[in-house]
Amino acid sequence: MAKNPIKIAPSILSADFSHLGFALDICEEGGADYIHIDVMDNHFVPNLTIGPVVVKSIRHLTKSFFDVHLMVERPEDLINPFVDAGADGITFHVEAAENPGRVIDLIRSANKQIGISLKPQTSFSMIEPFLDQIDLLLIMSVEPGFGGQEYIPSSTRKIKDIHQRLIEFGLRDRIILEVDGGIKLINAEEVVKAGADILVAGSEIFQSENPVQTIQKFKALGVT
Ligand code: DX5
Ligand code: ZN
Repeated sequence: MAKNPIKIAPSILSADFSHLGFALDICEEGGADYIHIDVMDNHFVPNLTIGPVVVKSIRHLTKSFFDVHLMVERPEDLINPFVDAGADGITFHVEAAENPGRVIDLIRSANKQIGISLKPQTSFSMIEPFLDQIDLLLIMSVEPGFGGQEYIPSSTRKIKDIHQRLIEFGLRDRIILEVDGGIKLINAEEVVKAGADILVAGSEIFQSENPVQTIQKFKALGVT
């Protein structure tokens, strides 16, 4: 049976912020599937990162898919600003939204890919009511807030369980499963075998000696 190449979303959080254009070139040259953009507000998570003005300023540099991961409270306030800045898909945290249905509606009205994320301790039941309205489910395999953390081993079981539940609901073909946090070349195959469709990787790519080659190495890994 042919191998399915792994899909990869480099997180530019680990890139050199004084050369973000260069980071985008690396992603394109390596054949990245998405550009993962981590947005943190110092409330939902204890870190402060990228806002819509930054996304807007790099938008013209690439045609690649901008996969915006909102780790913010009141995500409803930031949907339109990130849409206007050039996001192609927006993922918000179910734990952060008072009314997830409203956030979904805002992303849908803008015709963008709708994603919901859950933290390592959050149970799948929190997002079950929204499954028929989303395009992507982002499973965090570290506590959100910082790049460069260790993959939480129990994430593999969680990914398998969610993958299985989606099959039971008849939704597996419709929902993209993305996994984020601590993804390295050595655990990527395990995570894809568990059911992930697309992997986010930050430090493994941008702290490697040859980031283009590291993206290519991820993509060369495959699962039959
Ligand atoms: C964590 C972020 C991740 C992170 C991934 O809060 O959502 O996207 O930057 O970085 P690594 O691959 O270094 O764990
Ligand atoms: Zn992320």
